[in-house]
Amino acid sequence: MANNIDKPEEKPPKISDKIVIEVKDLVKTYHSGAGDTLVLKGLNFQIHEGEFVSIMGPSGSGKSTTMHILGALDTATSGDYILDGVNTKDLSEDELAGVRSRKIGFIFQAFNLLAHKTVLENVMLPGMYGHLPMTLRHQKATELIKLVKLENRAHHRASQLSGGQQQRVAIARSLMMDPAIILADEPTGNLPTDQTDEVLRFLTSLNRDQGKTIIIITHEPAVASYSDRTIVLRDGVITSDGPANRNVHYDCA
Ligand SMILES: Nc1ncnc2c1ncn2[C@@H]1O[C@H](COP(=O)(O)OP(=O)(O)O)[C@@H](O)[C@H]1O
Ligand SMILES: [Mg+2]
Repeated sequence: MANNIDKPEEKPPKISDKIVIEVKDLVKTYHSGAGDTLVLKGLNFQIHEGEFVSIMGPSGSGKSTTMHILGALDTATSGDYILDGVNTKDLSEDELAGVRSRKIGFIFQAFNLLAHKTVLENVMLPGMYGHLPMTLRHQKATELIKLVKLENRAHHRASQLSGGQQQRVAIARSLMMDPAIILADEPTGNLPTDQTDEVLRFLTSLNRDQGKTIIIITHEPAVASYSDRTIVLRDGVITSDGPANRNVHYDCA
């Protein structure tokens, strides 16, 4: 039976004039022994600070490739990616790594936590890479664990948590360096429906309450419906870019 889950849409996003992400004629070709595969065929879009955007498309359409480039984990074959006013073409590997650490928080489908480390240790990790002093790391991680309502699990190993709890740890971890942008690739893809809504609500509150720019990648309309704008990719081309359809609900039978 359809269950109308109310989304926190009463509260509109605070979108500023500042463009945090701009891609121009972005092309990606993978080279392998079998030949070249043209995966992104010239993408163009801009994302303003404070937007909550979903990137949708069927499997193989180029969503993860796009996310890797936006996250400065990979570079385009041609075209420009301007992140917070800086053309990433002009940055060295080291500079790119610095930008990645300071400006972007990542959330992955498979959570990517260290299974044998505690919740606290996992959340603190980006602070170590980002050279935060130990006491600050500890203090920030403790606050973030509270934010995702896992304070009574702080000393549990990641492997002892449910999928939804693990993804909330990953959300806390993504905030450790206080990034302006959160990139989430199929963040609910490994979760049962009843844990999906909660994770999406935490992401929504980061956008609405903290003004984080959020880009969520999904092939599920019900997930995209939490965002305000949907960019649809098909075979490496943007086929639509406009307001998200907010009237798609999970079936919680
Ligand atoms: N490292 C790679 N080498 C060659 N082809 C790749 C590589 N990564 C992805 N691809 C191909 O690029 C296309 C888009 O992949 P991807 O961006 O992962 O799509 P999506 O996330 O939308 O499912 C697919 O056809 C995939 O096989
Ligand atoms: Mg993918």
